[in-house]
Amino acid sequence: MVVENTTPTVHSQHAKARSVPIRLHINIDHVATVRNARGTRYPDPLFAAHVCEAAGADGITAHLREDRRHIKDDDVERLRASISSHLNLECATTDEMRAIAERIRPDTVTLVPERRQERTTEGGLDVATQRRDIEAFVSMAKRCGIRTSLFIAPDEEAIKLSHALGVEQIELHTGVYCHACEPGHHGARALELERLARATSLACSLGVEVAAGHGLTRQNIGPVVAIPGIVEVNVGHSVIADAVFMGLSEAVKSLRAAIDRSLA
Ligand code: PXP
Repeated sequence: MVVENTTPTVHSQHAKARSVPIRLHINIDHVATVRNARGTRYPDPLFAAHVCEAAGADGITAHLREDRRHIKDDDVERLRASISSHLNLECATTDEMRAIAERIRPDTVTLVPERRQERTTEGGLDVATQRRDIEAFVSMAKRCGIRTSLFIAPDEEAIKLSHALGVEQIELHTGVYCHACEPGHHGARALELERLARATSLACSLGVEVAAGHGLTRQNIGPVVAIPGIVEVNVGHSVIADAVFMGLSEAVKSLRAAIDRSLA
């Protein structure tokens, strides 16, 4: 259960300073989760992607996990062949995924940590430990004209190292902030917003673009998109959950409206 925004400190301080619109990327993994639950061909993540685009999404995000629990290889190929917006492929830093990215050529490849036991991507990438694998990805991506993004915690060292590795973008993990938006955590929420704002400012000063994602909802996204420097959000679970009750198109539009309200 997520509470409505009641302490918009960062939000109200910075909303007026923003001049760059926020790009909204919808993660359609959980359409595939529903499909795979019954082993049917429907609901089709590709159809979902087209609905999202028609509803105003600026891009489509799909996570090809090593265990293929939701998105499958064929989904990524079909998405690449037929969406007209931006394709952001999330994957782990493995040789297998690097070869797939090289073949599929998404617009952006977002490198994420992956553990088979986890329900979702639970933390940011350990950039120092995975440095060699990330370098291999960055070099392939630059050769193929793909942007690289690293999904990291709002941590100074991780940001500096990401910059040193030559990536175009980082995506800040908003999971701790979103958890702090649940009842009883309001102190932590303000602290997390400050951490996100500081991290964004550091990345921007280094010339690295900043996206944000994980756990974002219509109710908690406002203060995040109001942070100056954040130019993109990736949202999945809450949109698909909203779609159950209001339909996917309306769910995307409602999220966009929540973002626009926050920036007005
Ligand atoms: N960004 C990244 C890098 C992710 O791994 C995920 C989850 O797959 C998301 C954003 C979307 O998170 P959520 O489904 O909680 O909106």
